[in-house]
Formats: sequence, C-alpha cells, structure tokens
Amino acid sequence: MLSSAFSSLSLFLLALSPVAAVWPAPQKYSNGSSVLYLHQNIKVTYNGEFLPYTAGYAPQKLSSKEVVQAGVSRTLSAIFGSKFVPWKLHKPGSQFEPDLRKGQKWLNTLQIVQTGKDQASTFKPLAGEVDESYNLTVSDSGDVKLTAVSSIGVLRGLETFSQLFYQHSAGPFWYTPYAPVSIQDAPKFPHRGVMIDTARNFFPVPDILRTIDAMAWNKLNRLHVHVTDSQSWPLVIPSMPELAAKGAYHPSQTYSPEDVATIQQYGAERGVEVYFEIDMPGHIGVVSLSHPDLIVAYDQLPYYWWCNEPPCGAFKLNSTAVDAFVEKLFDDLLPRLAPYAAYFHTGGDELNKNDSMLDDGVRSNSSEVLQPLLQKFIDAQHARVRKAGLTPMTWEEIPLDWNITLGKDTVVQSWLGGDSVKKLTGMGLQVIDSDYNFLYLDCGRGQWINFGNGAAFDVGYPFNDWCGPTKSWRLIYSHDPTANLTPEEAKLVLGGEVAVWSETIDPVNFDSLVWPRASAAGEVLWSGRTDASGQNRSQLEAAPRLNEFRERMVLRGVGASPVQMTFCTQGSPEECNWPA
Ligand SMILES: *[C@@H]1O[C@H](CO)[C@@H](O)[C@H](O)[C@H]1NC(C)=O
Ligand SMILES: *[C@@H]1O[C@H](CO)[C@@H](O)[C@H](O)[C@H]1NC(C)=O
Ligand SMILES: *[C@@H]1O[C@H](CO)[C@@H](O)[C@H](O)[C@H]1NC(C)=O
Ligand SMILES: *[C@@H]1O[C@H](CO)[C@@H](O)[C@H](O)[C@H]1NC(C)=O
Ligand SMILES: *[C@@H]1O[C@H](CO)[C@@H](O)[C@H](O)[C@H]1NC(C)=O
Ligand SMILES: *[C@@H]1O[C@H](CO)[C@@H](O)[C@H](O)[C@H]1NC(C)=O
Ligand SMILES: *[C@@H]1O[C@H](CO)[C@@H](O)[C@H](O)[C@H]1NC(C)=O
Repeated sequence: MLSSAFSSLSLFLLALSPVAAVWPAPQKYSNGSSVLYLHQNIKVTYNGEFLPYTAGYAPQKLSSKEVVQAGVSRTLSAIFGSKFVPWKLHKPGSQFEPDLRKGQKWLNTLQIVQTGKDQASTFKPLAGEVDESYNLTVSDSGDVKLTAVSSIGVLRGLETFSQLFYQHSAGPFWYTPYAPVSIQDAPKFPHRGVMIDTARNFFPVPDILRTIDAMAWNKLNRLHVHVTDSQSWPLVIPSMPELAAKGAYHPSQTYSPEDVATIQQYGAERGVEVYFEIDMPGHIGVVSLSHPDLIVAYDQLPYYWWCNEPPCGAFKLNSTAVDAFVEKLFDDLLPRLAPYAAYFHTGGDELNKNDSMLDDGVRSNSSEVLQPLLQKFIDAQHARVRKAGLTPMTWEEIPLDWNITLGKDTVVQSWLGGDSVKKLTGMGLQVIDSDYNFLYLDCGRGQWINFGNGAAFDVGYPFNDWCGPTKSWRLIYSHDPTANLTPEEAKLVLGGEVAVWSETIDPVNFDSLVWPRASAAGEVLWSGRTDASGQNRSQLEAAPRLNEFRERMVLRGVGASPVQMTFCTQGSPEECNWPA
C-alpha cells in the first residue's frame, strides 16, 4: 500500500517537474543541478572528425557534414549571441546565477555521432522518410554526447542543446545549471507545419527565411507556401512572364526562381521542407489578368454568389486551353521545386458551383455535370505532379464535397473541423490536420471587409470575422489531431499545420501573431498531446517553459508575443494559476 501510494505520488511529482525549459518537450528527460560552463573553444567532433566552429557558417552543399557543421555554427552562435540572462524567470532580488568566484567547471567536448547514413530523401522527405530522433547527454564531468540516425536528427538535438544554456549577467560566461542531462527524443508526428499565404499580402524573402529559422527552433519541419490566389500572383514563371508581370501587386512583390531556390535550400539546410501550393481550380482568378480566356467569374459581383472572397475567378472546367496552360506552368515550375520538396499542393478548396454557369463550355452549376469534369481535371494535374517526382496534396473539399477519387499517395489537408479528419482517414486517405477551430492563426481579429456608411455605419457590427474567437496558445495546445479516431485511422494522420491566412497580416505583425502560438502546435505535434505517462499535457507545466522559450525567440530575432506578464514569469504561480 505504502509503495503504491508512494509511486502515485512520484508519478504526480514527475508530471509537474519542469522539463528544464526545452521546447518542445523531449519524450524523456532528466537533469541534475550542477553548473557547467561552455567555452567558445569547445572541441566539437562529428563521427570522430574535428569540426571547427565558425560563426555564420553556411553549407557549401546539401551534404550531411555541411548541414551538421552549419547546425553547430547556428547552435553555438545562438547561445553566445543571444545574451540570455534569465532575470525575467526568477523572483526579483533572488540569487539565480552561479557564483563566478567559485571557479568554473567547463564542458570539454561536444561529440556528435550520426549512426545512420543520409539519403537524398533526408533533405526532402515524405512523411516518415527521415528519422529525426536523437539522444543527448551532458555528463557531470563535462562531456556532451549527441547521437542521431540522420543529420536532421543531429539538428534537432543541437537545438535542444542550445536551450540548456544561459548567459551570466557578469559578462561573457555561458552556463547550464542542469548537469547531468539525459534526453531521449523523437517526434510524435512526421509532418509539423506552418502555412503562409503570400498572395493576400506579400512576404519578402528575408521574412520567410526568418520564419524558417523560428520553425527550426520549434522543431517544425514543413513550410507550406500558398503562393498564389485570386488576389495576386507573385511567382515569376520564366516561360510565362506575363503571369507575374500582370498578376503581382507590384514588380517588387515577386519571387524569382532564384528566390524560390534560396528559400527551399535555406529550409532544407535546417530540416524544414518548403513546399508550394498553386490553388486551383478555384482561388485562381488572378490568371484572368494575363489569360482572360481561361478563367470564369473573375471580379463577379456580388462576390459571395461566386466565391468566398473577391475578386473570385476559377479555371474553366472543360477547357483544353486550361489543360495546356497548367501543363506549361508545371513543366516550368515543378522540376525546379522537386530537388527540395517531396510534395506539391494543388489546392482545391472552396470551388463555387455557380462559377461554371458562366463557362460557355459547361453552363451548369449541378454536381452531376461538374463532378466528372473536376475528376478529370484533378486526375490530369495530379498525374503531372507525380510525373515530376512529387506527391500531390489537396484540400479536403476535393474528396469530401466533390467525391473525387484520389490516388492513395495523395495527402489531404483538412481544415473544416468536425468529423472531417475521421471521414478522410475512414476513407483510407492520409491527412494533415489544419482544423480552423484551433489552427487558423488569422482568426478572431475582426473583418478585412468594409461595411456601411452614414446612417448605416454600424452594418456588420461588431465586425467579427467568420472564424473567431482568436485561437490562443492554450486552445491550440488543447487540440488533439487524433481525437476520436481508431488506432487505424490515427495512423493516417501525418501531422498538422497552423495556417496564417494573410488578409490582415504582413511582415509587420506576422511574428507576433504566429509566435509563440505556432510553438504550442509545435509541441503537440512533436511531443504529443499526452506525456510519457499518458496524461494530458498540462498548461501549468507548459507555461513556464513557453515563457522562457519566448524570451529565447525574441533574443534570436523573432518578435514573439509575451505569454504572461513579467509578474507571472518571475515566479508567482500561486497567483497566476487557476484555481489558486
Ligand atoms: C532539474 O532542474 C530543475 C530546474 O528546471 C530543478 O528544480 C531540479 O532540482 C533539477 N533536478 C535535479 C535532480 O537536480
Ligand atoms: C537512444 O537511446 C535509446 C536507449 O538506449 C536507444 O534505443 C536508441 O537507439 C538511441 N537513439 C539514438 C538516435 O541513438
Ligand atoms: C449561386 O447563386 C445564387 C444566386 O443566383 C445564390 O442564391 C446561391 O447562393 C449561389 N450559390 C453559391 C454556392 O454561392
Ligand atoms: C466538354 O467539352 C466537350 C468537347 O467540347 C463536349 O463534348 C462536352 O459536352 C463538354 N462537357 C460538358 C459537361 O459540357
Ligand atoms: C444554381 O443556380 C440556380 C439558379 O441561379 C440557383 O438557384 C442555385 O442556388 C444554384 N445552385 C447552387 C448549388 O449554387
Ligand atoms: C457526393 O456523394 C454524396 C453521397 O453519395 C452525395 O450526397 C453528394 O451529392 C455527392 N456530391 C457530388 C458533388 O457529387
Ligand atoms: C485529456 O483531456 C481530454 C479532454 O478534456 C479528455 O477527454 C481525456 O479523457 C483526457 N485524457 C486523459 C488521459 O486524462
């Protein structure tokens, strides 16, 4: 009796004992409380070979050693450069720093061992193709050992390593107070993503690169670029220059092929696969500006009879010219994307049936007429995606609303919530969860559209958007992508993505809206909704870690929002937790 009471007490304590501050939480973690200092001359080896530390080292090519060497450079630079003195995490006036007069015990070596061999697919994996697991130990005597199967696993472990350190307020001294440390870690889901929308508002390349960095800190590994939509076409297609020339908001708001390669390569070096979406056959009205014959319902009013957001516009569904256009577009684009991505997303959300009433080749809004045309369209486009060596992705309406039969390789992105994920996995389809009730980061901030004037000034009051309230980090953290699924169904959930639709978001407010809310999704997707003992992860345990991780993100150059006021981060949990 005594021992079972004791073990349930220790389980309880285990559940509440902080996982230092590593975010996302490792699967297994233990720490001590000895202090070890990190010197800029620490000896780093990779599979026995000495690796020099050069700040700002960029890989010369996508090889295991180059990727690891650049990862080491970023890790050490993050520790030395971010100057993180954690006063915000301790009670005012408390002595939280090690006493420098006591002499320092230094870390001797950082020994990195990669036990497996990388494949070409390591840098552009399908879900499950790369092993991201790692083990990390820091011994009391100052030896660090990081083992991983792949170079991407090494990067994940290096990120964890960086989060064990602080800077001393007295100056250039970096220490971990957690030795000895022992970590075993691996992701719960293989697909952990952020979707950005560069068509409603444009995002310059540096903003996207900064986002990739922040994703890597969060162990998020997929950046989905919803690159075009009815509002703008920022993507330069050299064989069809008219698309961006007429479709971009301004010549400055474009991505050249070099920009696209830069973004994808930057991601690949960090274990973040960047894949693109050209949404079709709806959400593509902008093509009308350069190819008016291919599009119906562009700029039709009132827009809500033709689409969900002006200026509408969809491909003609029974047109050989549309087919030839997509063929030419894909022949140009897909071979350039395929070296760095396993996926290409063909969109497929919110196709409005009325649009084809304006199409001389169809003149109908009936499902019976449209469904076979759409099936033919999807079959043709997905065949082209496969021919380019990519795996097609599509939004959930294609199988669920249109009954389109998809190849078994296809990955379906679900956003409408409810029982969509269950239905899709029940049909045997692989799914990415982006349930708007939890994972749409644009929601709940009010309308982008303007309403009445004068006497009618309060038409639309209180001007809410369609998907409020805002999805707080706690709400996101509560969401289980596999809730109510059978084990068989759950296996088909590859992971999830937060979505950042950008009608009212641009680089000015992006960071503060995305971080650290995407971090909450990142932890659910990496660590799992439940912890090692099968308990739901606790906000009480997560909040102090997220507070700390937010400080690290800010110091590393990302404008993440605060999680709590400093009064709480300085450690008054009895007053900042409910019930008290
Ligand atoms: C592990 O670190 C925490 C601080 O995050 C500390 O409170 C705890 O005492 C450490 N554990 C051991 C066994 O020293
Ligand atoms: C991590 O340690 C566990 C337990 O010893 C072992 O099973 C696993 O293979 C190790 N993983 C790596 C990447 O070294
Ligand atoms: C199609 O247009 C009619 C008006 O002609 C409208 O009542 C209906 O809601 C529209 N359908 C959709 C799906 O928008
Ligand atoms: C599609 O076009 C073909 C060839 O022009 C025509 O025979 C067919 O009737 C059209 N289908 C529909 C549903 O309008
Ligand atoms: C199809 O068009 C008719 C006539 O405009 C309209 O009444 C009906 O609502 C439309 N159907 C859909 C599914 O939008
Ligand atoms: C899809 O199938 C369902 C159930 O068989 C049916 O209710 C629906 O009308 C179909 N939709 C289309 C677009 O064919
Ligand atoms: C986790 O929380 C959910 C939602 O509140 C609940 O249904 C479930 O039973 C909890 N799981 C455990 C293991 O407590």
